[in-house]
Amino acid sequence: MKEKRQVVILGIESSCDDTSAAVVSDGRILSNCIAGQKVHEAYGGVVPELASRAHQQNIIPVVDQALKAAGVDASSLSAVAFTRGPGLLGSLLVGVSFSKGFALASGIPLIEVNHLAGHVLALFIEEEGKSFQPPAFPFLCLLVSGGNSQIIRVNDYLDMQVIGQSIDDAAGEAFDKCANLMGLPYPGGPHIDALAKKGRSERFVFSKPQVPGLDYSFSGLKTSFLYFLRDNLKKNPQFVEQNKADLAASLQRTIIENLLDKLEEAARQTGTREIAVAGGVSANSGLRTALQDLAATHSWNLHIPSIEFTTDNAAMIAIAGYYKYLNNEFADQKTVPFSRFRI
Ligand code: KG4
Repeated sequence: MKEKRQVVILGIESSCDDTSAAVVSDGRILSNCIAGQKVHEAYGGVVPELASRAHQQNIIPVVDQALKAAGVDASSLSAVAFTRGPGLLGSLLVGVSFSKGFALASGIPLIEVNHLAGHVLALFIEEEGKSFQPPAFPFLCLLVSGGNSQIIRVNDYLDMQVIGQSIDDAAGEAFDKCANLMGLPYPGGPHIDALAKKGRSERFVFSKPQVPGLDYSFSGLKTSFLYFLRDNLKKNPQFVEQNKADLAASLQRTIIENLLDKLEEAARQTGTREIAVAGGVSANSGLRTALQDLAATHSWNLHIPSIEFTTDNAAMIAIAGYYKYLNNEFADQKTVPFSRFRI
């Protein structure tokens, strides 16, 4: 009898400011290497042109590192999966062009992955030595990142439906923009998280959006935070410095309450108790704790990815590529990146 061949996928992620390559074998992660880009810190946000230049510099060393760390050479790969979008076009182009060339040179198929679906499928990455209890279908996933805030009904690996989303800024953007107003470095989310641990979350109250249905809005919060700081700084120029932790904790509580009110409503409307969270903001410790409390209240089965797989990474692209490979979904050399790309 013919021995079943392992499915080994090289994943490539370059949608924003992280160049990442990962290898997944039969759904199990072998390596996940990420080169971040410090160059943006001085600008308080990602500068697209600088991001694509850095991707160009990083992509070959990162892929090399991922293959070596996995102990795999190019000849044993089954396919290369890449992020087609959404993201910054110049950044995406680097990963897409690299993947096309790599696939041609290695004689393996190409698989295109939607970055957002990748974040969700990060919940299915199997790690050596860790228990593996992925969500059962169908489940609801709160996807919260720098570019998106969505509630997704996940019917199967490759069958997802957005049932609520931000009509303006994403939750990560609210963290980053408000952190910037407080003079914190970019990206501000992790800094707010760290400060919030030492602050009083009920000290300041910020406006909550009134958006119908399961949709979100975060731009009003940013504006109300801006005016609040401006008014208080007029009275006391040291206001931010003296109240950093309380400001961070109050801001974080407001964002989390917004996110979870709608998630709770989505769970109620759909009668789902299988709940997950994904994306960069799911690294937030306050959000994780609040989700655990809510899960205990409603008897949800809660699924939270390892911190390593919350922010942008290629392991999530490789795992998504693995399920597309099993489903025979391949791309061809004519494929182009999309800066906007729906699930
Ligand atoms: O998923 P991601 O790496 O990139 C996108 O696909 O957008 O998410 C990046 C976002 C940034 O806005 C960053 O501030 C936020 O995730 N983030 C956090 C934390 N860690 C990352 N936000 C709040 N608390 C954190 N601990």
